[in-house]
Amino acid sequence: HHRSEFLKKEIKRLKKEKNAIILAHYYQEAAIQDLADFVGDSLELSRKAVETQADLIVFAGVHFMAETAKILNPTKKVVLPDLAAGCSLSDNCTAAAFQDFRNRYPDHIAITYINCSAEVKALSDIVCTSANAKKIIESFPRSQPIIFAPDKNLGKYLINVTGRKLVLWDGSCVVHEAFSMAKLLDVWKLYPHAKLIAHPESESHILKIARFVGSTSAMLRFVKEDTHQLYIVATEACILHQMQQVVPNKILIPAPANEDNTCACSECAFMKLNTLEKLYQAMVKEKPEILMDPLILKNALKPIQKMLSLS
Ligand code: 13P
Ligand code: SF4
Repeated sequence: HHRSEFLKKEIKRLKKEKNAIILAHYYQEAAIQDLADFVGDSLELSRKAVETQADLIVFAGVHFMAETAKILNPTKKVVLPDLAAGCSLSDNCTAAAFQDFRNRYPDHIAITYINCSAEVKALSDIVCTSANAKKIIESFPRSQPIIFAPDKNLGKYLINVTGRKLVLWDGSCVVHEAFSMAKLLDVWKLYPHAKLIAHPESESHILKIARFVGSTSAMLRFVKEDTHQLYIVATEACILHQMQQVVPNKILIPAPANEDNTCACSECAFMKLNTLEKLYQAMVKEKPEILMDPLILKNALKPIQKMLSLS
């Protein structure tokens, strides 16, 4: 307890001393979210990364997010508390395999979910997040053939909501694939009036029964604006930290995960590699730093900028 109080105080002091900004994703542990200057979804975090006047960007999220911040701010120092904070979507889509995939569909454009490496972004026509994917797809004429990578669950959802034929890469998020239908039904038996809301990285059987589907920020907005009192939330459980603050009087239940998952609800083990201790060390030492090949950086910027100008 003493150590964590010391860390919080020091992190706040270092923020001022170094003109640093802490950008955190909703899936970070509560203590990190509370110290952040900004907490958001992937799209908002990349927008903040463009706007910031800070000299040091401390990214409390996973590697592809910190990389995106660096691509948008090549002259700034971007640190990630733990460089091993990966993502099952990004890690299972190598640049070489993605290039092969593209080669098989030469007349298709590639719309790529932001959850991928800078190398894969550099090979893409345009990037999207879960918050703007529908809009980005619909910005192209219906006759335009499209490949979509690397999340097949989000891809299937987008096929449904846009009515387009997308050729999908076979990847998925380990966290959003861990929800247990059997346990979910048990929860529903206890709370038959609960409204299920879900992130589009979830599998189609979950999305089919969800009353609302959207990005982390969209889910937050939904519970705030909706008049219902009781929700089952199918995304990473740490979002409940912000959500409960926004709707203190509503009941929020994290969707239960199957036995293979490390906790009863779905938690992203990659996100949780960042700890207060590592955040503090990253601010003191200004590393581990995100360093990138200048050519990859330049080529990955174009599809991200295209996304930002369209959304
Ligand atoms: P969003 O916050 O953009 O909805 O992304 C969810 C996610 O899984 C990030 O890794
Ligand atoms: Fe990747 Fe899923 Fe973790 Fe998000 S929650 S970082 S998509 S593994």
